[in-house]
Amino acid sequence: MTDSSTKLMLRALAGETLDRPPFWFMRQAGRYLAEYRETRRQAPNFLAFCHTPDLAVEVTLQPLRRYGFDAAILFSDILVVPDALGQTVEFREGEGPVLEPVRSAGDLDRLSADRTIGHMAPIFETVGRLSREIPQTTALIGFAGSPWTVATYMVEGRGSKDYQAIRTWAYADPETFGRLIDLLVEATSAYVIEQVRHGAEIIQLFDTWAGVLPEAEFRRWVIDANARIVANLRAACPGVPVIGFPRGAGLLYEDFVRETGVDGVSLDATVPVQWASDVLQPLCTVQGNLDNMLLLVGGPAMEHAVTRILDVLGRGPFIFNLGHGILPPTPPENVARVVEMIMERG
Ligand code: CP3
Repeated sequence: MTDSSTKLMLRALAGETLDRPPFWFMRQAGRYLAEYRETRRQAPNFLAFCHTPDLAVEVTLQPLRRYGFDAAILFSDILVVPDALGQTVEFREGEGPVLEPVRSAGDLDRLSADRTIGHMAPIFETVGRLSREIPQTTALIGFAGSPWTVATYMVEGRGSKDYQAIRTWAYADPETFGRLIDLLVEATSAYVIEQVRHGAEIIQLFDTWAGVLPEAEFRRWVIDANARIVANLRAACPGVPVIGFPRGAGLLYEDFVRETGVDGVSLDATVPVQWASDVLQPLCTVQGNLDNMLLLVGGPAMEHAVTRILDVLGRGPFIFNLGHGILPPTPPENVARVVEMIMERG
């Protein structure tokens, strides 16, 4: 057992305000790094890449070597869960994920949570190896997609602009649609619990498309579903901090935090930092929220935003991060500059 007091991530998530906030970046492993592109070539497809521990461990460690992030995030994807449930999932080059859509009770009957944990054994091996290989002061983050966001890919069959198929289903027949969400709550809870058993010290739940829902549906499919996973994880693994990321939640970030019981909330770049400091930081640790496009642009625009975030959110329990994942054309030296600015604080 490592001493949690040496890990800034765990101290921040326990509610401590630190001189120098811990930092990690969403999608810190990825195509903006030449060494990632090189390793990526060794797998025939992206799912195979996620299921090959040698490669997944290597790309998880790459950004730590460059930047000394305070957290490593397991290299995987949110869509390994529908794959494990028995849905056909494919990542096509230049096209992103393509799934055989699930749109009816009959489609749901073909999915099963029974074999998910066995199917994901290589991912748990990756978690175990990472927990032994990362530096002592680095925390290991496990993650999953939240039910609503994973369901958007499962129902639409790909990334979407208007979420017509899933919203039509969820609004018109919430009972049947609720069976999909229930299945995802069950499979996702088991998945993150197993990650913790293999060495994950923090769990982040990505609800990337939470912001497309009106209030009532947000409460039902985002807040309630995340709350059930948090409760299941707490019951099985007491004391493991959870970070929620209900991207685009706007004013509903506050109720999300109050009602899910998360230890930390990751903010998208549109959230005003003074509001987050006044309203959210008294409730939990805040993570965020540099615009990923400012990281890409760099220079004074980026530096001004970093300073403002550090000045305002640094007064409370805080983890520096982006508002959304690093974009592939981001110059690696811009990441280095942000890290330098954070390290100057302490
Ligand atoms: O953050 C990390 O470094 C860990 C790895 C990670 C990936 N995906 C690797 C990945 C994490 C945490 C994710 C989460 C994820 N995946 C989300 C939620 C967070 C977010 O960014 O919104 C979502 C919505 C997905 C679904 C997904 N995966 C899409 C839409 C795509 C295609 C678009 C793209 O960027 O290519 C992926 C593929 C994917 N997941 C890549 C990586 C590094 C790129 C694939 C490749 O290298 O060929």
